[in-house]
Amino acid sequence: MMDKRVHELLNQQINKELYSAYLYLDFSNYFSRVGLDGFANWYMIQAQEERDHAMLFYQYLQNENQVVTLDAVAKPDKVFDCHMDVLKAGLEHEEYVTSLIHDIYSAAHDVRDYRAMQFLDWFVKEQGEEETNANDLISKMELFGSDPKGLYMLNSELAARVYTAPSLVL
Ligand code: FEO
Repeated sequence: MMDKRVHELLNQQINKELYSAYLYLDFSNYFSRVGLDGFANWYMIQAQEERDHAMLFYQYLQNENQVVTLDAVAKPDKVFDCHMDVLKAGLEHEEYVTSLIHDIYSAAHDVRDYRAMQFLDWFVKEQGEEETNANDLISKMELFGSDPKGLYMLNSELAARVYTAPSLVL
């Protein structure tokens, strides 16, 4: 029987990941509007990955024969003054998601739910990568973003990102 708190947090994470997808879709929308299609592509793929994350939590609970309750997804309501604000909001959001994953991990650890911990291991690693990617994007923008040619090259680089399915299969 799954611990009530662990169950609650895993279920909530479905919603948090779907919100992440919605937030990144909004980032993609922002960049489409300003004509930076490479950045728009990068965040569109990010949104796809977040939907995958949501489905992994959903599937894990289903596999464990646990009830799944779906809540309303919040509205992404950030207004950005510049491109860099979007990238910084992305990093801030990933740091928040990392803290959520760690909270679930701690709850699972407290009740010796080794199966949940093993499932969450993938997300602990994934969050490290997500934060690195967000940080790299900020660094590149700081270095090249203020020069039109630099921004064009960076946009072209981000346009080349392709979607790959998550390596975790349940
Ligand atoms: Fe699903 Fe970007 O964390």
